[in-house]
Amino acid sequence: MNAIPDFTLETYLAKYEFSARYHMTASDAQTHSIAEILDYAGPNAREAFLISGLGYTESWGADDVRHAVASTYDTLKQEDILCFAGAEEGIYALYRVLLDKDSHAITVVPNYQSAETLPVLLCETTGIALAENENWTLDIDKVAAAIRPNTKIIYINFPNNPTGKILERDRFDALIELCRKHGIYLFSDEVYRLIERDLAIRLPQVADVYEKGISLNVMSKAYGLPGLRVGWLACKDRELLDRCVRYKHYLSICNAGPSERLTVIALQNRDKILVRNQALAKDGSAKLLSFLAEFPELFDSYTPDGGVVMYPRYKGADGVETFTQRLVEEAGVVLLPASVYSSTLTKVPTDRFRIGYGRNNIDEGLSAFRAWLKRNEV
Ligand SMILES: Cc1ncc(COP(=O)(O)O)c(C=O)c1O
Repeated sequence: MNAIPDFTLETYLAKYEFSARYHMTASDAQTHSIAEILDYAGPNAREAFLISGLGYTESWGADDVRHAVASTYDTLKQEDILCFAGAEEGIYALYRVLLDKDSHAITVVPNYQSAETLPVLLCETTGIALAENENWTLDIDKVAAAIRPNTKIIYINFPNNPTGKILERDRFDALIELCRKHGIYLFSDEVYRLIERDLAIRLPQVADVYEKGISLNVMSKAYGLPGLRVGWLACKDRELLDRCVRYKHYLSICNAGPSERLTVIALQNRDKILVRNQALAKDGSAKLLSFLAEFPELFDSYTPDGGVVMYPRYKGADGVETFTQRLVEEAGVVLLPASVYSSTLTKVPTDRFRIGYGRNNIDEGLSAFRAWLKRNEV
């Protein structure tokens, strides 16, 4: 594999995420403290947590973790789950296992960068742009036209980072049929699933509905627990997971024991965590949309389908890169400019920014943003 380029989003956030006063572009919902998670499990949980060991754990993930994860799927068993250090490690392992120089991969654009950069480094890759003017939908005919005899994998991500798009159900079904016809793995990055504006548009998890479907998920986003660094690949192709765990032996080897204990508790109490985060997202997206509507000459917005970020257009003459730079430096409000979502595969919008609405700092952040706009008459 050639030298890996910078992960633009991570290098951008490394500069501002922990120094800027208002992190207004987070893609993870409001977090919990360890104490709050333990409280969900009842009075004996603290003691049990404190005496749990700090040894290595199983590379696949501890049995109770895999069991708890499997219970979040309709049809999967513990054996269909392979845990990783975050979703990110799962993306890396899967692409390394499935792709070589003779393969071809397809990915949606815009995307979380590793979903594109890794296949591009490994093999020929086609990017299919979500249709900006058609509510960010995916044109399945374009995907069909991109398929080659050596296409191994198609990567999708709905709710999408950064647009918040959820693919319409009939298109999702058509995509699965297409993959089935050609024997292609469908790699579905579902890390923002479970936060949708309307339950009726929630998609099934692909590993439940397609035998070559690989679902990627993690504790980071809808659950708001990225510090656990517990993610997983879920798939009925056990031979594929077995190849991936051999890759994991060269990466993290296993998850952190304390994180596994907290993951089990969080998943057993997921309804409480999700109800809180879904309410925060609902309230936050309404506040964000009304804020953006206060400045119609500056912003074009739309209602995102799910997740906790949206990707509005900035219409100011200075351009979104200068605008976001000044905003973080002068008001301490960090957003992600369009350049963070640049693609080597296809044209992407250059006038948008990612802003989040799943955290409890939304009022403060929007106030600082508003005050800066008014002060500067941008
Ligand atoms: C679409 C998508 N997939 C995967 C990841 C990686 O998740 P994690 O940081 O939990 O490894 C992210 C993180 O932002 C993401 O947005």
